[in-house]
Amino acid sequence: MTNPLSAIQAMPPDPLLGIMAAFRADDRANKVDLGVGIYKDDDGRTPIMAAVREAEKRLAVSGDTKAYEGPRGNLAFCETVQGFLYGASGGPADGAASFMTTPGGCGALGVGAAFLRRLAPERKLWISDPTWPNHVHIAKSAGLNIARYPYVADSQGLPDFDRVEDDLRQAEAGDSIIIQGPCHNPSGVDLTLEQWSRLATLCQSRGLLPFVDIAYHGFGASLDEDLVGVRTFLASVESALVSYSCSKNFGLYRERTGCVAVQAPESEAADAAVSHLADLGRASYSMPPAHGAAIVAEIRQDEALYASWVEELDGMRGRLNRLRSAFADALTERTGDGRHGAIARQAGMFSLLPVQPDAAERLAADHAVYMPKSGRINIAGLHERTIDRVADAVAPFLTA
Ligand code: LMR
Repeated sequence: MTNPLSAIQAMPPDPLLGIMAAFRADDRANKVDLGVGIYKDDDGRTPIMAAVREAEKRLAVSGDTKAYEGPRGNLAFCETVQGFLYGASGGPADGAASFMTTPGGCGALGVGAAFLRRLAPERKLWISDPTWPNHVHIAKSAGLNIARYPYVADSQGLPDFDRVEDDLRQAEAGDSIIIQGPCHNPSGVDLTLEQWSRLATLCQSRGLLPFVDIAYHGFGASLDEDLVGVRTFLASVESALVSYSCSKNFGLYRERTGCVAVQAPESEAADAAVSHLADLGRASYSMPPAHGAAIVAEIRQDEALYASWVEELDGMRGRLNRLRSAFADALTERTGDGRHGAIARQAGMFSLLPVQPDAAERLAADHAVYMPKSGRINIAGLHERTIDRVADAVAPFLTA
């Protein structure tokens, strides 16, 4: 009898997780990891933030159960994300929003994608090109039809929105579209406020359902400024899905701390949609993890902890921006090409280097510098000490 598993072929490693494994296995002392999007400090560590550590201590004392919380997870955490998303207004002016805790931003995207499939299986999900590769992976796993819209910088270094609009003219009513919030992954090129408004008009006029993905809140300009575009957008569309990740801004990568929100014209519709998300979660992970969400809620409810978190996050962003400027200068010096100055003006953890196809492989083999094939670099993986060496290694691979 044939074994049912005998013909199974191993999956190729995930492009980003594969780099993480290769980097860990490299024993050269001068190795540099510009791969997976994890914040690193000056010592190359991904620290537990001080506010997180303190909140964990308090929770260890005050916690008295590990029983399930329920399908929507931690409601104080959901309110925290609601406050981030809508600011002082607390919610949509005309309509309602409903929230649910999820296992990370990926969990939010996963149940969201499954919901889109349940809602309109024949419709398409539009995803920017380029994007975070897992967007496509999640959409495919949910069985969605995928379409792409171009997301490239114009000569000013801003998103070329005419091209976005041109392509989205082919989108049909009922299609949905993933739009990244601040700090676009992989380009670091963010929509301007005016472009957010144009996008809202486009979604409304064509009957598209936006799915806003926020994974780097606080890494762009500041906690408040980063969401001005998203808030303007949400104020101008009737319905939307939103995913929110606390992996990066709270440093809670392994705790899987995220949230999904649905905005709708009436609270009944928002709640009904979230009941579907909870139902889909139930069939997958059953109920959301509690620990990370409890940490975020604890920090939000304590003035001193919140201030400490904001200050540490500001410091992380400051470090990224210093590295951005230094690396932009180093590449410009070596190539004489002013285009690389744009790296200093981009936002968040990532920038996309215009590299030759074989660059990633050769940089890893010859220089112990790790990055994905796309040429996306995690700026946090740089260091003042390594910038010159990395710039020397990378410069010959940059395309004109
Ligand atoms: C990244 O893009 O590197 C991060 O969002 C981590 C991940 O899960 O891929």
